[in-house]
Amino acid sequence: MNWDITVVEETGSTNADLLEEDGKEGAVLVARHQTAGRGRLGRTWHTPKNAALTFSVLLRPDMPAARRGWLPLAAGVAVAEAVRDGCALTVSLKWPNDVLHHQRKLAGILAEQNMSGAVVVGIGLNVAATEAELPPAGPGSLVPTSLAIAGRPETDRDALLAAILDRLGKLYDVLQAGGEVRDEYVAWCGTLGQRVRIELPGDRSLTGTATGIDEHGRLLITGQDGKPVAISAGDVVHLRLSALACPTWTCLPRVNSRC
Ligand code: BTN
Repeated sequence: MNWDITVVEETGSTNADLLEEDGKEGAVLVARHQTAGRGRLGRTWHTPKNAALTFSVLLRPDMPAARRGWLPLAAGVAVAEAVRDGCALTVSLKWPNDVLHHQRKLAGILAEQNMSGAVVVGIGLNVAATEAELPPAGPGSLVPTSLAIAGRPETDRDALLAAILDRLGKLYDVLQAGGEVRDEYVAWCGTLGQRVRIELPGDRSLTGTATGIDEHGRLLITGQDGKPVAISAGDVVHLRLSALACPTWTCLPRVNSRC
């Protein structure tokens, strides 16, 4: 992939900009600061000025719609590998693609599509923010962290960007060629094997064990009836064993919308 990188001091949202520009595959927009950053499931993504690596890439995947769900998951793998290699930190992925360090959220990823079929994958990674600068965790959401809080205050954002793009480009090539990135994703996914509660759109939730990732990148949750349910959108809460005296399904939907 030949990435074509543009850097701006400030914009609303790099995802919104690339979706609207609808440019060439490989366009990368980096913003030193976003004033209206977008998060998953309609949330906002706030980062203090000059304290984060916030960027989006535009892809024009030549693959069936169902396989496109792998793009944000591949981006999570790319971030995890770049942080491991560049910062010597151990991170994990909470399905679908929250990048965690010590169970706190270091980076988030949002994939969106426009009418022309372009997929924009946006990545927000907290780099220099202090505890005081990060937003508080909302109800049920993860406590944020940053590379500085994790003991890596001197991280070079440009080097990290280059490493993420390099790895993402390679994983994208694999997907474009019809290949699989499931093994790579599973190797990073700390959700698998855990008891989890899935908070679904529409104020529903279900509880079970995360037992796998299916061929579309959906999380498989198995409840007491032993039948896996495929989840394609929702918030995952990793439950502690002590909270699981009586795990039961609270609903059994099959959710088909993408996250
Ligand atoms: C999430 O965890 O909710 C996803 C957060 C994604 C944030 C990034 S920052 C760069 C890109 N532009 C946006 O407006 N959002 C994404």
